[in-house]
Amino acid sequence: MRFFITFVFLFAITTSAAADNDAGVIRDCCTRMGQQLPGLVSYPQSGQYDASNNNRWSGTSVLAPSCIVQVTGADDLSTAIKILTVGVSGRDSACKFAIKSGGHTPYAGANDIDGGISLDLSYLNETTLSADHTYVSLGTGSTWLNAYENLDGTGVAFPGGRCGDAGVGGLTLGGGISFFAPRVGLVADNVINYEVVLASGDIVNANRNTHSDLFMALKGGSSNFGIVTRFDIATFANSGLWGGGIMNPATDDVTSQVLSAMYSFTETNHNDPFASYGTIFTYGNNSNMIINSLVYTEATAHPEIFRGIEAITPQIDNSLRITNMADLTSEGSSFLPRGYRDLMATVTFVNNLAVMQAVQAATLDIYKSVGSVPDMQWIYSYEPVPNLFTQEGTNRGGNMLGLNRTEEDLIVMMLSPRWQSAEYDAAMHAASALGFGSDFFYLSYADSFQNPLSSYASASVDFMKQVARTYDPQQVFQHLVPGGFKISHA
Ligand SMILES: Cc1cc2nc3c(=O)[nH]c(=O)nc-3n(C[C@H](O)[C@H](O)[C@H](O)COP(=O)(O)OP(=O)(O)OC[C@H]3O[C@@H](n4cnc5c(N)ncnc54)[C@H](O)[C@@H]3O)c2cc1C
Ligand SMILES: *[C@@H]1O[C@H](CO)[C@@H](O)[C@H](O)[C@H]1NC(C)=O
Ligand SMILES: *[C@@H]1O[C@H](CO)[C@@H](O)[C@H](O)[C@H]1NC(C)=O
Ligand SMILES: *[C@@H]1O[C@H](CO)[C@@H](O)[C@H](O)[C@H]1NC(C)=O
Repeated sequence: MRFFITFVFLFAITTSAAADNDAGVIRDCCTRMGQQLPGLVSYPQSGQYDASNNNRWSGTSVLAPSCIVQVTGADDLSTAIKILTVGVSGRDSACKFAIKSGGHTPYAGANDIDGGISLDLSYLNETTLSADHTYVSLGTGSTWLNAYENLDGTGVAFPGGRCGDAGVGGLTLGGGISFFAPRVGLVADNVINYEVVLASGDIVNANRNTHSDLFMALKGGSSNFGIVTRFDIATFANSGLWGGGIMNPATDDVTSQVLSAMYSFTETNHNDPFASYGTIFTYGNNSNMIINSLVYTEATAHPEIFRGIEAITPQIDNSLRITNMADLTSEGSSFLPRGYRDLMATVTFVNNLAVMQAVQAATLDIYKSVGSVPDMQWIYSYEPVPNLFTQEGTNRGGNMLGLNRTEEDLIVMMLSPRWQSAEYDAAMHAASALGFGSDFFYLSYADSFQNPLSSYASASVDFMKQVARTYDPQQVFQHLVPGGFKISHA
């Protein structure tokens, strides 16, 4: 068992992904896109530009692109990519760009760009159930809430985000932890086909039979190979759901009971894979609280596995109910709403009570060190990732994350404090640079100073590098897209 905890107070000042392109080249790219995609390109100081640019979960990710293109289909995207990559071999006349689906990643540069082109995929919001009801087709730019609203009530379920507000694209490309993970593995494990626009502008499908290497690399490999426009995700029959939040005061006594309950839950989840559990701790701004998120993916109230958690008192609030995905994930979004400045960073550790208690103590020490940031809320979640998730992934063909290198049950921690003034951005990022001796970092929760792709198995890294060279020989996604985690840096 690894058990060393150190703090590294790195000053990971985020540099907004400033494009070093010539302004004239960028202007030319925008003009040509406007000619070939009429009505879809917008410029600063217009309502269309502001609505798209500000449609991001966190204020920290909003930058100032020279223009925004809002494609409405894979063919539009192909047109845009061909314009952006003109002259890419010399890189002089090519244009730097950013890719946004749901816009949920908070660090500056992840899904937006200063002075380049922002590709907004939010109009790619299809949500259809196949005629035989075996899979759903989701546009990358749909939110999960939009998908659930359109597909709840069809008698089938599919794995997806637990906050309705998050996007289909980024979440699925990073792996994707859902309420159904104990039953079916990660969201990516259930994707049966990806529609992808490659750097060449070609539109291809990647599945088990066609472009199977690209299919495999996309299961956790993020934005290194192409732009996915549509995900086909396998469905299964579902009768209903029970779940919600239990809020407890974050006193020492309650905290210790919750950590014990989480340890036991993680260890026994394989006995009842219908159960899903996670906790969000929030401190500051006059409320220290623990939100326990309990979900049972069948219409059964108060299952045995949650008895211990339900018994913890006192409770401030309790919303457990028979419900559906749209309702449950709207509640999820209300726990971590948009409209703040946020950061997100992550560590993973083995499910061990002593480790968990040490992580908890260390996290609160960091909180004390940033206590002077006004109006700040110190928020973090613990999410059980028992080995069961990986076994279910393996049953479906495996993924890139490399979690199959261990049989340990894991806990993934998402640190997500929020505050209001940009003045404190650097101090907050510095405080989040905590090293817990973890050797896996979940990409979807990682901050820009982290290198999650390097934490995948080395065989996966080599494989993804090869796939990136095959499908993107000019390395457009390594050089022209500054945002996201680059396989060339892993
Ligand atoms: C409140 C909250 C709740 C969350 N809940 C969950 C959860 O339940 N489960 C989970 O696993 N994660 C969760 N996450 C993490 C989430 O998966 C990531 O934030 C993810 O990036 C969101 O996807 P998006 O499309 O909204 O993000 P975006 O910021 O739009 O995209 C993320 C990254 O992927 C790239 N990208 C996006 N779309 C494409 C595409 N089609 N092709 C190529 N590259 C693309 C972007 O350039 C960017 O670098 C949560 C995050 C927050 C803040
Ligand atoms: C889906 O995209 C279309 C444009 O293609 C847009 O008009 C519509 O409002 C979007 N729907 C949602 C739910 O975002
Ligand atoms: C883990 O899964 C990957 C992808 O399926 C596979 O290539 C690799 O061999 C597996 N590793 C182990 C140790 O089983
Ligand atoms: C702090 O609490 C106030 C009042 O409830 C709320 O309006 C504000 O958004 C909170 N600030 C943060 C950073 O959560």
